[in-house]
Amino acid sequence: MHPSSYRKGKGAGRVSASYRIAIIGGGIIAASHLEAMAALPDAQACAIADIRSERAKELAEAYGIAAYVDYETMLREQRPDIAIVTLPHHLHEQASVFAFEQGCHVLLEKPMALNTAQCEVIAAAARAAGRTLAIAHTQHYYADNAAARAYIRSGELGRLVMINVRRHLPYDKPERPDWFFERAKAGGGILTNLGAHCIDKIQWLTGEPLVRVHATMDYALGRGDVEGSGAALCHTASGIPAVICQSGYPGAPIDETELHFTRGSLRLRTGLGLWISDGGDYAPVQTEQQEPTLVLQLRNLLTALEQGAEPQEADAEYARSVVAAVEALYRSAACGQAVEVNG
Ligand SMILES: NC(=O)c1ccc[n+]([C@@H]2O[C@H](COP(=O)([O-])OP(=O)(O)OC[C@H]3O[C@@H](n4cnc5c(N)ncnc54)[C@H](O)[C@@H]3O)[C@@H](O)[C@H]2O)c1
Repeated sequence: MHPSSYRKGKGAGRVSASYRIAIIGGGIIAASHLEAMAALPDAQACAIADIRSERAKELAEAYGIAAYVDYETMLREQRPDIAIVTLPHHLHEQASVFAFEQGCHVLLEKPMALNTAQCEVIAAAARAAGRTLAIAHTQHYYADNAAARAYIRSGELGRLVMINVRRHLPYDKPERPDWFFERAKAGGGILTNLGAHCIDKIQWLTGEPLVRVHATMDYALGRGDVEGSGAALCHTASGIPAVICQSGYPGAPIDETELHFTRGSLRLRTGLGLWISDGGDYAPVQTEQQEPTLVLQLRNLLTALEQGAEPQEADAEYARSVVAAVEALYRSAACGQAVEVNG
């Protein structure tokens, strides 16, 4: 069935048939998207494109779909309803714009683009095509994060007074593709790639954008021209301070967020657990991850398409706010001063 038969507005009139989905970029994250499609009856993978033909073929054979080296040919021939863009950051803009021109809805990997100017081009292309754009901010689909957000909203521990995010891991692993170390292709190093998750987490937990940041960075990775570590003092719109510390140099990996309230604190290790203290030692909070994050993320987009609505908290404006904060980190580090995110 050609999908154009139900392409009326943003998913309107679409009832229970399967959405045909093609993936642009067959790298590390692509297989997880294919697994997510396999788990959802109303999602059907149809094709994958990668300039590395062997990789495209490998994934295509594993999932019984078509392989392409050129994503433009793939979209023209396959006419999928949705394109999932899992390319290096500098290619997010051109691939998403092309997919919208072909009439696809787009699920675009984070960070939305290299800079806010590119985010605006992508958002304008979605509007012009009347298609839906969702950005893959996966932090929103973790049960641990959702439980932490519920504590903040309930006021049970009092008022949130500060956040401390630490995310360290040896960044220069041989298996990490080279483009991650080229500023022109990645935008930056650990503070762009994993920093986008940290910023997203702070914004999503608090429900507030970052408005001011003061960052420093260190460049000694020995691979490419991106930073290897960085620290930033950030403030949300209501003035909650949040510290982000990230080191990509060798050392013990950690991904931990502490949230301090007027009557207690939370220790959040996304994907591993949540702990609570009202003054004594941390005690575990029961959380249950019902489904993998990428399944929940894809369902969020499919639900938005069914309802003709914007995908919840994964829309272009939200994703642009994350890129704006990432951009501000580099502006601040370059000038050595605090900067306004939208300054
Ligand atoms: N949400 C998450 O938790 C998460 C996790 C990992 C990666 N990501 C994001 O996903 C994206 C991809 O990351 P990755 O780790 O899979 O990178 P990757 O380098 O493994 O994959 C990118 C793929 O794109 C292919 N490619 C490059 N140029 C192409 C072109 N013109 N046409 C077709 N294919 C092309 C490469 O050959 C490669 O296979 C990035 O935006 C990254 O930040 C997000």
